Amino acid sequence: MKEDSDPSASRTYSETVARGLYERSRRGLVGKHDNVRTYWEDELTRNALRPFLRTRVAASAAAGRGLRVLDLGCGAGQGYELLTQIREQDGSLEEQPRHVLDSTELDVYLGLDLSEAMVAQGRTNYRGMHHVHFAQADLREDLGPAAAEPPFDMYCSSYGSLSHLSAQHLEDRLVQIVRHARPGAVVVLDLLGRLSLEWPGYWQASTEAEKTRPYSMSYLFAEEERATGQVETFPLRFWTGREVRELCSRVSEQAQQPLHVAEMFDRSIFVGRHIDTGEYGAQLPPLRRLVNSLFEHNVHTPLAELEIGYAPAQSGGYPQGLFCQLGLCWDSVVRFAHQRMTGQRIALVELAGWRDFPAPLQMALLTLDRVIDSVAWIDVGDVRANIIEPQLAYVLLRMLHRLQSGVGCGHGLVAALTVGPAPAAEGASAPRRASAPA
Ligand SMILES: C[S@@+](CC[C@H](N)C(=O)[O-])C[C@H]1O[C@@H](n2cnc3c(N)ncnc32)[C@H](O)[C@@H]1O
Repeated sequence: MKEDSDPSASRTYSETVARGLYERSRRGLVGKHDNVRTYWEDELTRNALRPFLRTRVAASAAAGRGLRVLDLGCGAGQGYELLTQIREQDGSLEEQPRHVLDSTELDVYLGLDLSEAMVAQGRTNYRGMHHVHFAQADLREDLGPAAAEPPFDMYCSSYGSLSHLSAQHLEDRLVQIVRHARPGAVVVLDLLGRLSLEWPGYWQASTEAEKTRPYSMSYLFAEEERATGQVETFPLRFWTGREVRELCSRVSEQAQQPLHVAEMFDRSIFVGRHIDTGEYGAQLPPLRRLVNSLFEHNVHTPLAELEIGYAPAQSGGYPQGLFCQLGLCWDSVVRFAHQRMTGQRIALVELAGWRDFPAPLQMALLTLDRVIDSVAWIDVGDVRANIIEPQLAYVLLRMLHRLQSGVGCGHGLVAALTVGPAPAAEGASAPRRASAPA
């Protein structure tokens, strides 16, 4: 791996743009927009942002104007796609889904990025859309042209952009944002979680230098290219939930206006990108590849390989206990799916210990049981590959989401922050338990 100290990773981003990876929507088994990103990570992020966006859209409409969005480290405009594709959850199965933010309700989307290649790709992706703008800016220094703009309703980031900033630079930018924003504005942080199973060597970090560690996007490159050792490595700041809360307290004090953590969650706990590369010490099956396969049409996934069998190191301790509990839940669902698909019928409520299972595990098993019962009789198409396996993927990932509590144990650590003493966003989820019971 080529060591590089450029925290903006400009070589990686120029190369990935040149390869077309930042063009609008591609999906599949591998790559930037693989199935896990498309069907789970983007969806989960949209679910979490829905109540905040809904509140902000209503507030800007009440003020007689459109919504104003600033995207920090915008890449080629992925934040625009995230925000404008949030479906209303109205139970409707109609042909055209309704979205929380219709593009006609948007006054401006301004994307800021350090990489000229990204800014140029963003302009290409959204050519002809008069309310979508891109500008080059270095967030280590300031908010670039956005500082002279009227306040925004949402100051967003997606997929690790702000992990490129040191803790001090992020703190400075947040203070600037809180001073720039009106009360009620929403700030979205999307950082890398330091307690992810992808990098056990980062868990015990205590100094700032130890929390800023090497990272590469090698998973976007072919195996042969990785083997050349020429893929760029750059430093990122890895975060825990507690550190994000402390950061917000410091920012509130300095800006003399509260910055409140309204929602925080761990995204991609067992399916982070580097679980499969093993580059930073992960010792698990290639779970991202396997879950991508569960989502894939007409492909049967070898379920035995999907079991984690997580065994903590001798020393134990946090977050290993948490991973053991989550791993037990995951494996229970995988084994159940396997047994049901080999024709065994299992009366769930008669399982030993059923009443003591965590509710998210019970829900996962019951859902899967129902799905299999409902569709197993269908004799056209590949029912296992096209109906049951995608549902197994959703059941597993949703269960982990219901068990997490935003501690930093996923690849991504996502936080929705509100500026000022605004009322909590309608429908924002209540805090969850910190760990899964045994
Ligand atoms: C992992 S990409 C995420 C891009 C996009 N937000 C997405 O969701 O796919 C991180 C982005 O942060 C940008 N970036 C890195 N350092 C930056 C800085 N100091 N100021 C502004 N942008 C930066 C990179 O150029 C890159 O486009």
